[in-house]
Amino acid sequence: MHFRTFDTQIYINRRQVLRSKVESGIILLMGNHEAPMNYRDNTYPFRQDSTFLYYFGLDVAGLAAIIDVDSGEEIIFGTELTIDDIVWTGPLPTISELGATVGIHKTKDFALLGDMLSKAKSASRQIHFLPPYRHDNLIRISTWLDVPVGVTGAMASLSLIKAIIAQRAIKENCEIDEIHKAVHITVDMHLAAMKNALPGMKEYEVAARVHQEALKAGGDLAFATILTVNGETLHNHYHGNTIKEGQMILCDAGAENDMHYAGDMTCTFPVGKSFTEKQKDIYNIVLHTHEAAVKMLRPGITYKEVYLKACENIFSGLKSLGITKGDPAEAVDAGAHAMFFQCGLGHMMGLDVHDMEDLGEQYVGYTDAMSKSTQFGIKSLRLGRELETGFVLTVEPGIYFIPTLIDQWHAAGKFKDFIDYSKLEAYRDFSGIRVEEDFVITDTGSQLLGRSLPKTVAEIEEVRGRVF
Ligand code: GLY
Ligand code: MN
Repeated sequence: MHFRTFDTQIYINRRQVLRSKVESGIILLMGNHEAPMNYRDNTYPFRQDSTFLYYFGLDVAGLAAIIDVDSGEEIIFGTELTIDDIVWTGPLPTISELGATVGIHKTKDFALLGDMLSKAKSASRQIHFLPPYRHDNLIRISTWLDVPVGVTGAMASLSLIKAIIAQRAIKENCEIDEIHKAVHITVDMHLAAMKNALPGMKEYEVAARVHQEALKAGGDLAFATILTVNGETLHNHYHGNTIKEGQMILCDAGAENDMHYAGDMTCTFPVGKSFTEKQKDIYNIVLHTHEAAVKMLRPGITYKEVYLKACENIFSGLKSLGITKGDPAEAVDAGAHAMFFQCGLGHMMGLDVHDMEDLGEQYVGYTDAMSKSTQFGIKSLRLGRELETGFVLTVEPGIYFIPTLIDQWHAAGKFKDFIDYSKLEAYRDFSGIRVEEDFVITDTGSQLLGRSLPKTVAEIEEVRGRVF
């Protein structure tokens, strides 16, 4: 095998739990296929579907599986390689050999799956499937079940979605071990940025060093690296700027290890040896907010409470600099903090960097009794619900000065009682700062995953001082 799996029994147990939570019918879980980049044989790096990995562990393209809830039958569908394939790919295990490694003893040709499903549909059996995020799988399911492509996603099974989220949200010890490994690699990626960035370099030269650490450890990126002197643009994937003394680099990067578990961290450090006084002030507000949020992590607290406290801390910190004014709790309630903190405080993390986001943010991060807000700022909070032991999540507060947003709100006279626009003007070209780490919720609080990065101003300046 070219890939690592957990013990067979882990997958058998996971499928048993899933079966017990779905009342009846057939569960269809789609693996991913190779995805062409510009022509069929030049593909993007293969990435297996995370739910398929969770229940079947097989990091191989072109598979799908069904679990018959009523009979207990489990079948993997795949296509055996012919000699025409093997000359290009080399020998690979047969589908039945693959199945046996994860406790599945019945396999069939992939071409038979559609027929089987359409017969099940004709027999009025319920077919549970997940919302397809890859268009080829969307077309497959739409064709097999004879429903229009445009409505197929909406026909995904809510009971299957909820059962899977309930299971995948609580990480097993073997998963936490893998996430630790991914975050260790992630720490190495950030240290590579901090230890190699020099004025005059291009952002992409530093980003290349970050990527190298992930590859060197047998993994790859968990998501496209953000490495930028314009950290105020939240998902900034442009790497073409020359970095200059006086600027800061915001690096948001993470590895996925060889078993596809993710890490996700952000550091912000000066391009020169040290932060300016103005940068230090804002950095310390973000760091204090981060530390206060981490202290609040425990089972039973909602992540929305942690987020709202972080918003207040950011607002209060900026008030001490004269940029904001008024009562922090009132300002946050009104949404004025979103001038500076436009995104959420963090998200679940696991086999996906935003874990299970394909299954729906409302179901992953909220509950039937708690809906996601639509207010600017808090609407981007991906996780709001009560934390439970075994959740893995990120804590990533930040302060971002976005010139277009400043101009728009200023022109509209928005939140004039909470924002001193004349003071804010001096920060319009400041960029942004974020500090992000990953945690597992324990019975009594939380535990840092991976290891600590230099995080205080003094620690960061110590590392940067050694570079010059
Ligand atoms: N690390 C990117 C994000 O959390 O969206
Ligand atoms: Mn993140």
